[in-house]
Amino acid sequence: MRRGGYLAGLAWTAALLAGAGVQAQGNDRVAFPAAYAEGVHYATVTRGDIREELYTSRAAIEAAQRGEPIPDGTVILMEDYRGGRLHRYVAMEKRAGWGERHAPEVRNGDWEFQAFLPDRSVNREERVTRCMGCHKAQAGTDFLFTLDRMKAAPLSEAGAGMQRALAQAPLAPASAADLTHAQVMLSAARGR
Ligand code: HEC
Repeated sequence: MRRGGYLAGLAWTAALLAGAGVQAQGNDRVAFPAAYAEGVHYATVTRGDIREELYTSRAAIEAAQRGEPIPDGTVILMEDYRGGRLHRYVAMEKRAGWGERHAPEVRNGDWEFQAFLPDRSVNREERVTRCMGCHKAQAGTDFLFTLDRMKAAPLSEAGAGMQRALAQAPLAPASAADLTHAQVMLSAARGR
């Protein structure tokens, strides 16, 4: 299959780069979750002209609400809009054993990270170790900044309107900073 061959090619290239000691950009694991919008839209984060829309599976929301670990196979997708226009997507995906290839100081449990361009292709300019460095501070909440929003997300249709209203409220200052994801990433990029 063409797609399989392409993905295998990417994995091979990443392995080759890693073997050569070159920093592979993006990663070979997290593909764009094309059906993400069929999951649960659990939060909106807005500040200034930045707006982020967060989606994950119903199973992940239910687990969060029961106080259980986010299940194996979960994908979280964030749409990132600037000035009302889609700027990019970022995603996290959790699979049993995925963390094992990372050094303990980098590892975020079994989560892997990926950034996508608006056309949904992987952004190969993005160093995902940067994502991991910041999210690692959230180890106490399964490496997530918005676990509390998942816990608060109503799953019934009746609750959806309320959720949309609540979602407009700004996030309580996260442990990192009272900034949107996009803002903290921009400032982190400038600092380097
Ligand atoms: C400097 C800190 C920082 C970096 C770097 C960072 N993030 Fe985040 N991320 C956050 C914060 C803070 C949030 C919560 C949303 C908000 O406040 O905007 C978040 C939320 C997320 C979420 C929603 C799930 C959650 O944790 O709440 C995903 C998915 C995500 N980030 C993926 C990524 C990816 C992929 C990268 C790298 C391309 C990345 N992040 C880099 C700080 C960061």
